[in-house]
Formats: sequence, C-alpha cells, structure tokens
Amino acid sequence: MGTLFIFLWCELLSGQTAMVNVQSRNLTSLNGKWNVLVDPGDIGGWKKFWIEPKPQKKTDFFEYSFDGAPELNVPGDFNSQMCELSFYEGSVWYRKLFNVSPKKDTRLFLYFGAVNYIADVYLNGEKLGSHEGGFTPFQFEITGKVKEGNNSLIVKVDNRRLENGIPGRGYDWLNYGGITRDVSIIETADTYIDDYSIQLKKGSLNNVLGWIQLEGGHAEQNIKVKIPELHIVYKTRTNDKGIAKVEFSAPFKLWSPDSPKLYKVTIESETDSVTDSIGFRCIEVQGNKVLLNKKPIFLKAVNIHEENPMKKARAYSAEDARLLLNSAKELGCNLVRLAHYPHNENTIKEAEKMGLMVWSEIPIYQHIQFSDSLVPQKMETMLKEMIRRDKNRAAVIVWSLSNETYSGTPNRNNALIGLTQKCRTMDSTRLINHVTNTQSYVNNVFNVWDTLYKYSDLICINEYIGWYDPWQGKPSETKWKVAFPDKPIFISEFGGEALYGNKNVPTDEAASWSEEYQEQIYKNQIEMFGTIPNLCGVCPWILFDYKSLGRMQPVYQKGYNRKGLLSDKGEKKKAWYIMNEYFKQK
Ligand code: GCU
Repeated sequence: MGTLFIFLWCELLSGQTAMVNVQSRNLTSLNGKWNVLVDPGDIGGWKKFWIEPKPQKKTDFFEYSFDGAPELNVPGDFNSQMCELSFYEGSVWYRKLFNVSPKKDTRLFLYFGAVNYIADVYLNGEKLGSHEGGFTPFQFEITGKVKEGNNSLIVKVDNRRLENGIPGRGYDWLNYGGITRDVSIIETADTYIDDYSIQLKKGSLNNVLGWIQLEGGHAEQNIKVKIPELHIVYKTRTNDKGIAKVEFSAPFKLWSPDSPKLYKVTIESETDSVTDSIGFRCIEVQGNKVLLNKKPIFLKAVNIHEENPMKKARAYSAEDARLLLNSAKELGCNLVRLAHYPHNENTIKEAEKMGLMVWSEIPIYQHIQFSDSLVPQKMETMLKEMIRRDKNRAAVIVWSLSNETYSGTPNRNNALIGLTQKCRTMDSTRLINHVTNTQSYVNNVFNVWDTLYKYSDLICINEYIGWYDPWQGKPSETKWKVAFPDKPIFISEFGGEALYGNKNVPTDEAASWSEEYQEQIYKNQIEMFGTIPNLCGVCPWILFDYKSLGRMQPVYQKGYNRKGLLSDKGEKKKAWYIMNEYFKQK
C-alpha cells in the first residue's frame, strides 16, 4: 500500500479540523453538574444565552442567568433527569464554569463523546462551532481561547427531529436529548499523535498494516510502535505531511470471543506518546461462510438499544455497558448488534474485554431524505466519526450503514452505494452491511432481493413472521428465493411482543401480549432457520424491553417496545429460554 494511499486514507478519515485521539491522554473531565436553561420557545438565540448576563448600569436586568439555574448531570440525557422533560424535544442550554491553566507550548482541545442531536458550543461568549448527530464524538481546538480563572462553556443542545436528519423524523426509540457522553479538555504537545490505525492487514493472521498521523508544525519525526509483550519495537518515520506507514509481522495470540486477547500497544513520536489496548483478529466472508481467524463462525447475536432499563435512561457508563453485555453473554451470544446508532465507547471496550463481537451502525434508519442535498454529507460525516473512533477495536467486526430504508425512495440506492464505496475505502478489513426488510413473503416463500445486497458482505434480513406478518405455512417448510445465492444470510431482526408476567393465558392471539405467544414465535422462527440457505447467524429483536413513545397500548406496552427477551426489570420471559437453548446448540 503506497504512501499516497495512506495519505488519501488519512485525508478521507480526517476531514475535521485537528481531532485528537483521546486514548491515554492527559485530560480534565468536565463531567458533573451543569447549570441549564430549558428553552422550549427557543428564545435563547435572540436573547444571546451564550453571553453571561452582567448588568452594567443600575437599570440593566436580564431575564435569564445560569447562576442559580437548575442543574443536570453530564453525561446523561435530560429526559430522565427532570420529569417535566420526560418526552421533551427542544432546546436546553447547558453551562459549565471551569478553570484550566495550560502548560507552555501545549495545545488544548474540548472533547464531546456525544450530544443529541445538534450542539452549538460557545466558550467565553465566542462560538467555537456546531455539531449535528447524536451518537459520535466531536471536538474543538481551544488553544489560546481559555483565560486565567473562570471560563464559561455554554452548549445549546437541540434534540428536535429534522426532516433531513440522520435519523429522520420517525424512529422506534426514545429520543433522549442532552450531553449524553463524557466532556473533557485534552492537553497535547504542540505536535501530537492525531490518529493511528494498528490492525491486521485484510485476510492476514499476523501482518499488521496501518499508519500514524501527526498533527502540528513538527511533521517529520521518528516513530516507535511498541508491543512489550511480544518484544516488538517497530521503528518508522513520518513524512512532511506527518504520516508514517506501519507494516510488521508478529505471532499474535488472536482476539476471539473465546480468548479476547488484548495487547498493550504504545506509539511514541519525538513529542508525544499514546498507549492503547489493541486486539488482533481477522474477519472475512469466504463463499457462504463468515470466517473469524480463518475458522467458520456462527453469529449468535442480539439487538441492544443504548438504554439502561434499570435507570430508565440513556446508557453511557462502563457499568451500564456491563449490565447490558453480561445479559447478552448470559443469553449465549458472541455478537451484539448495537442498534441503530454508534453506542458509547465504554460499551465497545467492555465488549472487547468480554469477548463479544460488535456490530456498529449509523442511524440511516427507515425514513431518510436521500434526495436532500445535505443528507449525503451528513451520512459521510457520521460514518467517518464512527470509523475514526472505533477502527482500532478488534471487537468491531461490522460497519452497518443503514436499516430498513425504502428501496423506492428517490436516490436511496445511489446515496447508499456511494456511502458503501467510501466505507470500503476507509476500512476494508471489516464486514460492511445494509439491513433491509424489502423481501416479499408469499405462500410461505421468501423472495429476497435488494440492490444493496450487491454491495454488502452479508444479506441481512429483518422479518417479523408470526408477529407483524402471519405464517403462510409450516415454518419448517419455508422456501427461499435469494438473488445472491452465494452470500451468507443473517437474520438481523425477528421476534414479537409480550408483557412479562402475562402468562398462562389460554389463547393463541397476538392481542394476548402473552409470554406464550412470544415463545411460540421463537419456536417457529427456529424451525424456519433450518430452512435458510447459507445461514451465518441470527439476532433477535431485542434483549431488553425499551422505551419508545409510539408504543401506546396502555395495558401491555405503556410506552415500551415489549419485544425484549428480558423485561425492563431484567426478568426472563419464556422466549428467553428458547433462544438460550438454540444458542447452546450452535
Ligand atoms: C424494525 C426496526 C426496529 C423496530 C422493530 C419493531 O424492524 O428495525 O427499530 O424497533 O422493527 O418494530 O419493533
């Protein structure tokens, strides 16, 4: 791979002013209590809420102030912290005062793990910039912008849905708004390690192929990549663009669900160093099989939303992650599909430590305005931000680029094919997929066809036979017509709803919302799985019941999607045991 290719890769991946890789950085956390002004009328714009009100003369007064204003926790969604904000979609202004005394010849960056949905960021009354998208990190350089003493950081957060948003207006999860992940100030040297990719070359079990990108005036530097456990000290040098190619071999103990081996890897330049825990594994499709480290693997998966059911809130912490991931492990999974947006970094890292493969997805979900001129750029930015954050995470084996978009939507195919090609350029070492439900099911025959399959590594099908669609024959006699007969098929969603405890109901009606009805759906689905050609894995919708306002059946749903195998209190429904048994067989 020539230097030009790496340069293109970095360019494609960078695309944002001076982003710092936050691994093992010297950072000051701004988490904690922030003062807030809830602004349903959106008046903060013309009242200039980003300017701290200071009366100059006796007649001056201001009808807003952050001093004495209510407080919210950051990180955390605002909906679960104030009951008047339970279903709120609108603007909330956050303010944090902080002191920082930067050392000489260093640079400062303000880092946000995520803010849903649009963030306008101000420092000491000056606008730093904005970010759109609720599930990926962003930062601003604030070198020379902080002052001695109190600095005032103000963030306008707006979680209103946009017609040309990603996701668009309609989606089946609660639209948690707020500063939902960590906020920190990162201090670096003048020239620092901006980004790096240290992973195995596509299809290899021991050849690392990657790069390192420096940012700053001193571009040409000697670089060392160290893996002490393997006595590796790889030396290279960055060019006048601060880029160095990395290529070496090593007898890695490969990362896998059974042995989630991580290595301490340190990258040293003359002015900076970062340390990361990195696993090395090879994931690929060969014919109709998915291979992990050259061995066929069956993907025993489950869908998870980023919600801590016990807290009834957006999940963000390592504890939240362990709660969700331990439940997936207990079900018998080796993969978690993090629906339908990039989840927080804690979840990815905990999954990596626990030996759970990760399916990471951007929220190009159902109703997307593909013909809107701004949408392609928004999709690409979100994709870049997702890959940039998690490309060194061995556990992440899939980039999923869309879910249930409508094949008839103007420009859908072009936009998504273009995005897929960009994704392959950015990272061809992982599987790249689109999830669809465009198949037909007539007379117990599935006819599976979608343009996007040509560009995807797996055929990923969402089907709810037994729930939204009645069976049209014996599940064990289901027939399949598949346009791409050689590609592996993954059932990315299936299932049905039940209210935990609603059992021993003497009826086989869906409207019973009974555990038995849901259990029967799972039994039938598992029978049908036996008929699917090239089946490489299945992924029930969903692990836990979760909040979704559109689910309004007052007795059984009460604002929850009840397709969980576990209730929102973690109680096992009858279908859980059916799924657990199936995964034990696999
Ligand atoms: C869809 C969709 C999910 C949704 C599920 C459901 O397939 O992808 O986001 O929650 O169906 O209807 O429960």
